[in-house]
Formats: sequence, structure tokens, C-alpha cells
Amino acid sequence: MPIEDAQRWNQRYQAEVKNALVNHRQFLHDNAKYLPKKGVILDVAMGLGKNAGFLLSSGFQVIGVDISFAGVSIAKEHFPEIQALVADLNHWIFPENYFDGIINFYYLQRDLFPKFKYILKSGGILIAETLMKVSIKVKPELTPEHLLDHGELLSLCQDLEILEYREGLVKSRRGLELSIASIIARKG
Ligand SMILES: C[S@@+](CC[C@H](N)C(=O)[O-])C[C@H]1O[C@@H](n2cnc3c(N)ncnc32)[C@H](O)[C@@H]1O
Repeated sequence: MPIEDAQRWNQRYQAEVKNALVNHRQFLHDNAKYLPKKGVILDVAMGLGKNAGFLLSSGFQVIGVDISFAGVSIAKEHFPEIQALVADLNHWIFPENYFDGIINFYYLQRDLFPKFKYILKSGGILIAETLMKVSIKVKPELTPEHLLDHGELLSLCQDLEILEYREGLVKSRRGLELSIASIIARKG
């Protein structure tokens, strides 16, 4: 339901922008060293662009894609150098062997993972993190299809070389302990 998703995220971003823009993701911060020294990074479902902004400040070019016009507008306002696109990732056409890195934070679209291998350059890095199904216990409003099973992120990346993988807990902005899985993988 991409149209409903776009509307929901547009409303949320318009309402919460000040709180939501605080920080880029800790896992990206801690593991950006795995990325090639320079190049083009795709930010999948980039939201307000805080992860993209961090990568720009580290010297990368960033192409950010998100279905939310409000999110992309705010991202461009704060980080004008992002090459930002409003697009539904269910229908986006990806260029082959193009990206030096891909980041995919808190957006799960399972059929993208084979495409990640296709669009990464050889040696390119994927950094991904998202919520696991057990998070429903503390946040019942989550949609189960958007959440990972134990070990699922590893399976989704099976055609890539796994450099790091973890399952663990993060504290949300509202103080909830959410279960997440995180991965760093390389195209051989
Ligand atoms: C939880 S936010 C994650 C934002 C950002 N990656 C982060 O780490 O904060 C999920 C994002 O997915 C975007 N999204 C949802 N469905 C999408 C789709 N079909 N195509 C592209 N973006 C989508 C939403 O607009 C929203 O910005």
C-alpha cells in the first residue's frame, strides 16, 4: 500500500520534523569505516536525510530515495547536496554496478536484496539495520510484514559476503527497547 505509506509518512514528517531530525543512526556512525573511501552511496528510504547528511559530511555523494515528498523536501532543505528522489522503491529501476555503497535503515522490502547485489559495484558495501518481529511485544502497532525474523537478514544477504552481523536491542526516542538486526555485507 505505497500510497497510504506515503500519506502516513508525509503526515508524520510534517508533524514531527524537529524531533525526528536529531541524529544519524549509531550503527552507520560506528561502521562507516567499512565503506570505500569515496564514491556514490544509495540511501534506501532515506526519510529526513540525516544518514545521508552524515555521509555527505564524510565526503560521499549520496542518492536518496523515499516515497514521502515531505521527507525528501525536508532532507533537501537541510542537505541540499543530496541527489534526492521521490519514488516508490517497489517500482524504481536500478542501474547495474553503479553504487559504491548502499545504506538501508528501518525500511524492509525483501525483494530489494537481490537487487542490491546487482547495483553494487564489485567490492561495494551494504549497511542495513531494521526491526525484528519480537519488537511487536513492546510496540504492538508495528506491522508484522515489515519486521524481520531471527536470522532473516543474514538469509536475505546470502549472496553477499557477510562482514558483520548482530541481533540486539536499541532504545527508541520514546525509551522503548526495540529488537533489531544489523548487517554489513560486501559484494565480491
Ligand atoms: C522508518 S523510516 C526510515 C527512514 C530512515 N532510513 C532512517 O533511518 O531514519 C521509513 C521510510 O520508508 C519510506 N517508505 C515507505 N514505503 C516506501 C516505498 N514504497 N518506497 C520508498 N520509500 C518508502 C517512508 O517514507 C519513510 O521515510
